[in-house]
Amino acid sequence: MTFVVTDNCIQCKYTDCVEVCPVDCFYEGPNFLVIDPDECIDCALCEPECPAEAIYSEDELPEGQEKFLELNEELAAKWPNITEKKDPLPDAAEWDGKANKIEHLQK
Ligand code: SF4
Ligand code: F3S
Repeated sequence: MTFVVTDNCIQCKYTDCVEVCPVDCFYEGPNFLVIDPDECIDCALCEPECPAEAIYSEDELPEGQEKFLELNEELAAKWPNITEKKDPLPDAAEWDGKANKIEHLQK
């Protein structure tokens, strides 16, 4: 089992999640974070920390967000590890809650 970062992280990237992860399994792209499913220990600590409510357990993914499981795995293999919180993206508040931000995902 793993937790998964979903659509609403895109263009926000608040990074509160990385501070609580005991195994440092978050990876950072230009405008999105992902979780490495092979490293996640399913502790659930990150889920309530995300201001954008973008993190879900893989068995509780909302309808339409299922593709993010594979996307997290794919991008975690490619992006660098992130272990410390940083400022969110400049327009995070404006983007928070918009639908289908995946079209803006920068890989
Ligand atoms: Fe890290 Fe736990 Fe979140 Fe997995 S569930 S990404 S181990 S904080
Ligand atoms: Fe993204 Fe939420 Fe973390 S917006 S960077 S999953 S705190």
